[in-house]
Amino acid sequence: MKVMVVGGGGREHAIIKKLKENKGIEEIFALPGNGGIAADATCVDIGAKDIEGIAAFAKENKIDFAVVAPDDPLVLGAVDALEEVGVPCFGPEKKAAIIEGSKIFAKNLMKKYGIPTAEYEVFEDMGAALAYLDTAPVPTVVKADGLALGKGVVVAQTREEAKNAVKEMMQDRKFGESGAKIVIEEFLTGPEVSVLSFTDGKTLVPMVSSMDHKRAHDDDKGPNTGGMGTVAPNPYYTKEIADECMKTIFLPTMHAMNAENRTFKGCLYFGLMLTPKGPKVIEYNCRFGDPETQVVLPLLKTDLFTVMQAVSQGRLGEIEVEFSKGCACCVVIASKGYPVSYQSGYEMVLPETEEGEYILVAGAKREGDKLLSAGGRVLGVTATADTLQEAIGRAYALAKQVKFENGFMRGDIGRRALQAYEKK
Ligand code: AMP
Ligand code: GLY
Repeated sequence: MKVMVVGGGGREHAIIKKLKENKGIEEIFALPGNGGIAADATCVDIGAKDIEGIAAFAKENKIDFAVVAPDDPLVLGAVDALEEVGVPCFGPEKKAAIIEGSKIFAKNLMKKYGIPTAEYEVFEDMGAALAYLDTAPVPTVVKADGLALGKGVVVAQTREEAKNAVKEMMQDRKFGESGAKIVIEEFLTGPEVSVLSFTDGKTLVPMVSSMDHKRAHDDDKGPNTGGMGTVAPNPYYTKEIADECMKTIFLPTMHAMNAENRTFKGCLYFGLMLTPKGPKVIEYNCRFGDPETQVVLPLLKTDLFTVMQAVSQGRLGEIEVEFSKGCACCVVIASKGYPVSYQSGYEMVLPETEEGEYILVAGAKREGDKLLSAGGRVLGVTATADTLQEAIGRAYALAKQVKFENGFMRGDIGRRALQAYEKK
C-alpha cells in the first residue's frame, strides 16, 4: 500500500506516525511534509494548495489512499480532484468542507437545524455592519466569513474595537476575499472543549476530547496563536455533557449536512463552549485540529488506517473505535517572537524518545544532517501517561531536553485542566 498525506505541520506528523503502525503500508509520501517529517515519510515538494499537482502526483505514483489534512486543500476541492483520478481519500469533498470554509454557511446551517450556537447577524455591507455596532451589546465577536489562517476572529471588548475589526476585514481586506462578508455574533462564556470526530455520514464516532491553549504566554496572556499546547481528555467534558453534545450537536450536524446534500466524510471538528445555557458550537472545522491531533491520536488504540479506510468506504458503523483510558499532553516549542515576528534557521538537536513520547515537527528544514527551525510553531513535544499530571511532567521533561536556542514554550500547559480535575 502506498499512502500520501497532504500537509506539512505537526498535525500531519502525528497522523503519519500513527499510520506507520499499520504494517500493510509500505510507503508514506508527505506533500510537502517538512524536514522533521522526512524522518518518517518521503517528502515531496508539492504545496498543499497545489490541487492539480497533488492529483497528478497521486495518479503518476499509483497512490492507494490519500489523507488530506489541512483546511485549504479541502476547501479548494483536493478530495474531489483525487477521487476524479481514482484515489480513495480520507477527508470531505469541497461541498462538505464549506462547513469550515464559510462561517456564514455554518451559522445558517445551525440556525436552520436548531443546533445551539451564538446569536448572530450576517453583513455584506460595511455601512450596515458599522451601524449595527452602534447599539450592539459588547463584548462582541467579529468573524471573517472565509478561511483566514485561524486569525479571522476578533473578540472585541468595545464597540470601537469591533468597528476597527470590521474595517480591517471589509475595507482593508486584511484577509483578502475571506473578509468580504462577515458575521457579528454574541459573546459567549464558559470553558472551551475541542471534540474531533470520525464520520462517514451514517455513523459519527467522537474521539477523546481535548483542550487547546491559544494564547502565546502563560496564564492565557499575549496574542492568539495557532495553539501553544493541548491536553486530552478535557476535564470539563463530562459523560453527561458528551451525551448531550451527541444528541443536540454532533448527530444533528451530520444529519443536517446529509439533508443539504453535503454528506460529510472525514474528521469533523467541533469547537464547543460549555456555556451556562449548555454546550454551544463556536466553530466547525472540516479536518483534524492542530495541535489537538498531537494529543488525540496517541490515545487512539484502534489502527488509524483501518478507521480512515472505513470512513472512506462508508463502513464506519462496522468497526469498533477504541481510545485508551490514559492522558496526553503536547507542549509546543515556537520560535521566539511568534506569532508577531520571528526568525528561522536555528539548529535543533532532538532527544531520543521512549514509548509514549513523540516529538512532532511542525516547522523545520533539513540541511545536510542538520535540522533547522523553519516557521513560527516548530515542535510539538508530546507524551502520554496514566494520569494527566504524569503526562504533563513527561512532556515538559522531554521538552527541556530539546536543544533549540531560539525556542520558547509556555510553562503552564495543562495547569487549568489539572485544577479542574482537582475540583471534580
Ligand atoms: P475560532 O478561530 O473560531 O476558533 O475562534 C477563536 C477563539 O475566539 C475561540 O477559541 C474562542 O476563544 C473565541 N470565540 C469565538 N467565538 C466566540 C464567541 N461567540 N464568544 C466568545 N468567544 C468566542
Ligand atoms: N487548534 C485549533 C484548530 O486546529 O483550528
